[in-house]
This record gives sequence, C-alpha cells and structure tokens, in this order.
Amino acid sequence: MAGSTLGCMVHICVLLIISTVQADVNQEATLHKNLLQNYTKSIRPVGDPSKSLDVKFSIRLIAIDDMNEQTQILSSNLWLSMSWTDANLAWKPEDYGGLSETRIPMQDIWKPDIHLFNNADRSFEVAFDAMPLIYSSGLVMWIPQISVQSRCPFDMTKFPFDTQKCELKFGSWTYPENKLNMTLPSKEYKQEDLDDLFTQHGEFELLSVKQMRNSKKYDCCPEKYIDITYTLELKRRTEYSTHLILSPGIICSLLIPFIFLLPHQTSDKIIYGIGLLVANVFAFGEFEDIVPHVYPRVPSLGIYFIMNLALTGLAIVFTIAFMGVWNKSNTNGQVPGFLRTLFLGVFGRLCCVKRDDYMMVVASDGFKADTGDQSQSFENIDDQQRMVSQASRLRSSAEWRQLACVLDRLFFLLFLAVVIIAAVSVQ
Ligand SMILES: *[C@@H]1O[C@H](CO)[C@@H](O)[C@H](O)[C@H]1NC(C)=O
Ligand SMILES: *[C@@H]1O[C@H](CO)[C@@H](O)[C@H](O)[C@H]1NC(C)=O
Repeated sequence: MAGSTLGCMVHICVLLIISTVQADVNQEATLHKNLLQNYTKSIRPVGDPSKSLDVKFSIRLIAIDDMNEQTQILSSNLWLSMSWTDANLAWKPEDYGGLSETRIPMQDIWKPDIHLFNNADRSFEVAFDAMPLIYSSGLVMWIPQISVQSRCPFDMTKFPFDTQKCELKFGSWTYPENKLNMTLPSKEYKQEDLDDLFTQHGEFELLSVKQMRNSKKYDCCPEKYIDITYTLELKRRTEYSTHLILSPGIICSLLIPFIFLLPHQTSDKIIYGIGLLVANVFAFGEFEDIVPHVYPRVPSLGIYFIMNLALTGLAIVFTIAFMGVWNKSNTNGQVPGFLRTLFLGVFGRLCCVKRDDYMMVVASDGFKADTGDQSQSFENIDDQQRMVSQASRLRSSAEWRQLACVLDRLFFLLFLAVVIIAAVSVQ
C-alpha cells in the first residue's frame, strides 16, 4: 500500500515536471511565433524610423593565423560582439510565464550589414551560425566567430626587426550614421578575459590592439558613415632570423679588412679575396631566400648585404693596386715627393710603420744578394758611384714597399671602421 502511494507520487511528480517543461516549450514556441509572425527582416527594427539604431560593436582576437608578406594579407580569427535593440523583438515576460530570454536563428531576424572594409577575401562569412541571445527588452546580443583575411600593407624596410601595423576596419556597408550608429562598448580594447584562448602567431608577437571609432564622408553619398578600426601592432620575433641570416653576414663583413694584412709576396691575398667574395655572395643568397620579396620596400638589411659585396669587390681592387705599388720596388722609379711626405711621413707614423727598421731589413737583404760585389774593393771611383746608385736604388725600392705597407694598414683601418659602423647600424 505504502509502495503504491510512493509510486503514485513519483508518477504525479514526473507528470508535473513534463507538463511544466512542455508549458515552457509551448510558451517559447508561441513567443517565437508571435515575434516572427509579422516580422520583416529587411527593415531596420526601430520604433521611430527617423531615429538612428545604436549598434555596440567590438572584437576579440582569438588567433593570428597567418601573416603573408608576399600577398600582404593578415589572416586572423575573431569573435565579433554586436548588440542592438530590436523594437520588434520585445515582449512582456509575464505573458509567457516569466520567459525573459530566448534564441532565434540569425537568418530569421534583421542583422546589421557590418562588413570588413579592408577584406581581402571575397566572402566575409561567419565561421559558424551562432545564435543570438534575445532579451524581453528587445536587446539582441550576437557573438559570432569569424575568420578574416584583411589587407595589410607590410613595411619591410626594417626586416627582420620590423613591427607591422595591420588594420581591421569594420563598418556598415549601406547605413549612414543617422540610420545605424556604431559605438564602442568601452574605451579600451579588452583582451584579458580571453587571454587563455588567444593563440600567438609563431613568427609575430601581438604587441597591442588599439580601437578607434571614425566618422567619414565618402564621395558617393552626402551622409557620414561610421567605422570602427582596430589597429594590431605585431612585432616579428627576431631571434631566429637574426641568428640565421645576420650573423654569417656580419662575420663575412668583418673578415673583409684582413685582406690588407696578408703578405704581398704570395698570391694569398687574391685567394683570400675570392674566398671572401664567394662567402659574401653565399650570405646574400641566404638572406635573399628568407626575405619576402615585397616591392618596392627593400629591407635595409638587403642594402647591408649588397654593401658587403661591394666592399669585398673594392677591397680586392685596392689589394691588386697595392700589389702593383709593391712590385714597383723592382723598377728604378722613385716614390713621388708628395706621396713620400704624405704616406711615408704622416700616415706611416699613424699606422706604426717604422721607416728605419724597414729600410734596414730591406737594405741588408739587398747587400746580402750582392755579396759577390762586396768582396771586391771600393778603391776606384766607379765602384763608389755604383755603390751610391745601388744604395739609392735600394732606398727607393724599400720606399715603394713601405708605401704599399702604409697603404695596406691605412685601408685596413678604414675598412674595419666601415664594416663595424655598418654592422652596428644594421641592428
Ligand atoms: C500580424 O498581422 C495580422 C494582420 O495584420 C494581425 O491580425 C496579427 O494580430 C498580427 N500578429 C501579431 C503577433 O502582431
Ligand atoms: C552616435 O553615437 C555617438 C556616440 O555614442 C554620438 O555622439 C552621436 O551623436 C550618435 N549619432 C547619432 C546620429 O545618433
């Protein structure tokens, strides 16, 4: 008997629950039917047609999917957040058993024709058909997720130390301000609550997002149109590219001046120079492979690599010229007076090429070569004259060699200064 009473009560309870749920469902269905019966979704839902409809608009970034320098397109994933009051979707909750909110598919109701102005893709499609939340006051809240491809003019001059600014410009395509007024819900862009959802891009780091509401007049129409523009500041993570491209370039360039310190007598200088040229061409090639070819903004790093190539070429040309100077020592010519004063005097001291030490070595070399003559006596005048002329010949040949040495050291210092300044300023 007790069991059957309990069973009966459970039965009644279940029936009651089912009937309330059914009543709720029925009420919501009635509400939808009533709301949509005479609804025209192409008409702006304002009570007074002369008034502007306020749409609160904002975005949240979910991911930076791609930054394509070649096509100059930024692909990102966003949550759009829009809310407005639809005068035709208001109801009294007490008429529907206290029902204060509902969801109606977006295709059945009016939605603002907000468009991404700098859209790079033909379609501006909402990723999934998010339902809007509708409150009894008529407030519609719609937060669709969307993948956008936007145009972004990349500036590659500072590659790979560049920071790119990309804009996302949203606005109503057809409604001017006096029909549809877009407003920002808050002054600053908010991302904090979505930080755990946000995916950083592998190559670019999102530094900041700035939002701005603009009002602009276009040629087509007399009214002003509102747009809300988000500016994303993205910084390239440089560690990888720096190590990969910059270091070989800097090392190759620092090796250039040392061509001037190699000895003249051998062909080492030329071999070294050609080695340098190959290394620099190779470093430039590596850079060329990595740098996005975006005309017409040439990265300054590209200019650095080209400058290295040019410096190598110049160094080789100068080396050959100085070898020519060195080889002058085998002829009878004298070092011209002004060259002697300038290079052997002033610059010689500056570059620490000691005149006398150098002379003695060369002179003793010369005398050793002529030991046969030395064993003979200096008795007659001819011999003395011959000795004098030989000494002057040795002297001038030593001077030629010394000149080549001074030029070498001078250009070593010059080139070293240039490559160090260039390497420091390219960072
Ligand atoms: C819709 O329009 C019809 C005819 O004009 C009217 O009879 C009906 O009451 C309206 N329905 C609602 C929910 O306003
Ligand atoms: C649009 O909204 C802005 C800011 O909320 C306001 O200053 C402006 O007067 C509004 N424009 C119209 C036409 O209502």
